Amino acid sequence: MRVPLIAGNWKMNKTPQEAIQLINELKGLIQNTAAEVAVCPTFVALSDVLKAVEGSSLKVGAQNMYHQDKGAFTGEISPVFLKAMNIEYVILGHSERRQYFGETNEEINKKLAAAFTHNIKPILCVGETLEQREQGITFEVIKEQVQKCLANMHQFDLEELVVAYEPVWAIGTGRTATKEDANEVIAFIRQQLKEVLNEKLSLNIRILYGGSVKSSNIRELMDMPEIDGALVGGASLDVQEFAKIACY
Ligand code: 13P
Repeated sequence: MRVPLIAGNWKMNKTPQEAIQLINELKGLIQNTAAEVAVCPTFVALSDVLKAVEGSSLKVGAQNMYHQDKGAFTGEISPVFLKAMNIEYVILGHSERRQYFGETNEEINKKLAAAFTHNIKPILCVGETLEQREQGITFEVIKEQVQKCLANMHQFDLEELVVAYEPVWAIGTGRTATKEDANEVIAFIRQQLKEVLNEKLSLNIRILYGGSVKSSNIRELMDMPEIDGALVGGASLDVQEFAKIACY
């Protein structure tokens, strides 16, 4: 049984003070959800958010990390630090990191291995750009991302992997993939997981949809058989809206 996961990716938003306020309000609004709910604040708010979620079922994730444990890597964050704080999830390979910070599938592969080594649950993001969709190469792009990012992972317990399908053209644009399109690509990702990993894992790993998810479209997305949850950007910054999404 794949427990639905609704995760808020706050991106570069919310000071620690604003984050605490949002969590304190959110806790009271999501008591009746059947989904697992997570928030992914910036690094500087993680500590305050961890304290604020205490006593609730809310989970906390980071938005990135480096693949090395320690050393001369100015400005980077180690998986060891995240684990020491008890951070449960880490988003890896978000399209904004690929697009603006040049992250490659090979680097994301190293980060995934580091996350599994330190028992941090990775949320691996994949998705095609508008140009790639218009060229009709969506499935090739997704296949390459899944295969390269998940290469040589057999020594790890991959049950805790989460994948997020985020078509780049749907992120922050107000343009959501149709529920049928999202379901189709997610079914394809599951097929790829079966090929790269194995059938059991492919049936147990949760695959989320992300890209302009709102309270008005979450229900129809969650009704699709392959979609196991959502990675929510802009709408996760508004506590009422995010609570509605979490309680779809
Ligand atoms: P939006 O929900 O703002 O489109 O962002 C999606 C996203 O990138 C989540 O990681």
